[in-house]
Amino acid sequence: MELAARSVRFSETTLTELMIPSYANFGGKIHGGILLSLIDKVAYACASRHASTYCVTVSVDAVDFLQPVEVGDLVSLMASVNYVGRTSLVIGIKVIAENVRDGVRRHTNTSYVTMVAKGDDDKPALVPPLLLENEGDARRFLEAMKRKELKEAYRDAFDSAKSVMHISNNIEKLSAQRCVIGWETKELPK
Ligand SMILES: CC(C)(COP(=O)(O)OP(=O)(O)OC[C@H]1O[C@@H](n2cnc3c(N)ncnc32)[C@H](O)[C@@H]1OP(=O)(O)O)[C@@H](O)C(=O)NCCC(=O)NCCS
Repeated sequence: MELAARSVRFSETTLTELMIPSYANFGGKIHGGILLSLIDKVAYACASRHASTYCVTVSVDAVDFLQPVEVGDLVSLMASVNYVGRTSLVIGIKVIAENVRDGVRRHTNTSYVTMVAKGDDDKPALVPPLLLENEGDARRFLEAMKRKELKEAYRDAFDSAKSVMHISNNIEKLSAQRCVIGWETKELPK
């Protein structure tokens, strides 16, 4: 039986956390791993709300740290379901860092996390369809479909390129890079 559709609004989730000194790296900025952990947490909360089940993280796309986050910033991660498949969901997460003293808010990154819903038997479980209530919802769904299609094409193209990539045919390419060939290459298999 098909499940009832749920809107994007049903599961929208915001997680806000103060960046305390113990989150800093050796350069005094917030450690990337802290942000990744928060991204994973908010993605889980949003996905499991939509699916009403336990969910697992399968893949995280596009985590580009465009600007550093400072100690003392208030970081808000806004998560919403962008796409649903049969058992998978793509959660889009916008990360905003706010300087509490001057109120300036910076959009530091947007990430896309693919989660899979799990049933009580620990197998992937069907998720409710997504009710698209406006053009923004539809645009994000279509963009997620395109990202999925391009990612699959990239994976196939890379696998076939890798299967014919022999070191012996690429010594020149390597020599043009900032690396040093540190072993005898004459006997390399073709
Ligand atoms: C995710 C997992 C359930 C997929 O299991 P599977 O046997 O490959 O199941 P399926 O082939 O039925 O795939 C289930 C869904 O995951 C999607 N999926 C699988 N691998 C994927 C990937 N690399 N990227 C995006 N989606 C993926 C499939 O497209 C499918 O989506 P759909 O049902 O919406 O069409 C399994 O690999 C798993 O449990 N991984 C560990 C997850 C985990 O523990 N995460 C925490 C990391 S510490």
